[in-house]
Amino acid sequence: MKIYFFGDIHGNEYALEACLQHAAQIKPDEIYCLGDLVGWLPFGDRTLARMRLLGFPTVAGNHDMMVAGLFKDHPQQLDRMQATAYNAGLLSAIPGAVEFLRSLPLFLERENFFITHNNPFLLPAQGEVPAIECFEYLTEAVLEASLSEWSNFPKQVIFSGHDHVPAIYELPAGASSPPELGEIKVHRPPAGQGLTLRLHLSSRYWVKAGSLAMNRDSVPMANSVLYDTVEETITLFRLPFPAVRLGRELQSHFFAPNLTAVRNYIGLLDEYGGDDRVRNGAK
Ligand SMILES: [Fe+2]
Repeated sequence: MKIYFFGDIHGNEYALEACLQHAAQIKPDEIYCLGDLVGWLPFGDRTLARMRLLGFPTVAGNHDMMVAGLFKDHPQQLDRMQATAYNAGLLSAIPGAVEFLRSLPLFLERENFFITHNNPFLLPAQGEVPAIECFEYLTEAVLEASLSEWSNFPKQVIFSGHDHVPAIYELPAGASSPPELGEIKVHRPPAGQGLTLRLHLSSRYWVKAGSLAMNRDSVPMANSVLYDTVEETITLFRLPFPAVRLGRELQSHFFAPNLTAVRNYIGLLDEYGGDDRVRNGAK
């Protein structure tokens, strides 16, 4: 079975279309979205409309829930709050958009894998509304605090997004009980490239899928993942998309460049030079 994942779209319709074209070539049996359809870029209306039509099983991201008004951001996240408010304004004019975001589940479970936006071990108790604290990034300290629960987790593979940095964390069989941080193997794709990892049946894996926008590893490409249960592999992809076109659209937007985080992303898109230069191996 081939299962395809992507998330953290954040309004980047160009990266979303690149991902969909890539998935169409692979012809996976299932496609999942890891959340954050909206937020950050001022085009959440476009990606939300596309994803509603596609109907892939999707988990809720923190931006989706903040745009839908389910909880408040940290007070120091001024850029993120402004992007949230902008997207909330966009979606308020679209029938059913906010209700759609509010209906997304916090996680999905399948026989051998678990899907959530951030961290299965920070999810609220069943029936409780999450808070921004459920979306703490997977720092070394947070990973260390999650190790005991992870080693007892019933699913072999966790798929999540949120960090905007693609990586596969491996908890090998035979690790201490509870495991120590130094026993975790971290597999990262080289800059501008993908990575295929052959799975050990007795290891556990936590796959951070990266993002389609606002990349935090200085490689502004569309990140997606393929889990092949027959080949027993997980592949991280970095896909080119029309980055220059997105950068120009953002640069000429009346509001988005006021946000430092978005302005930095515009700089990254410009520096990287778009799909053709990326395809030719630049940077
Ligand atoms: Fe995100």
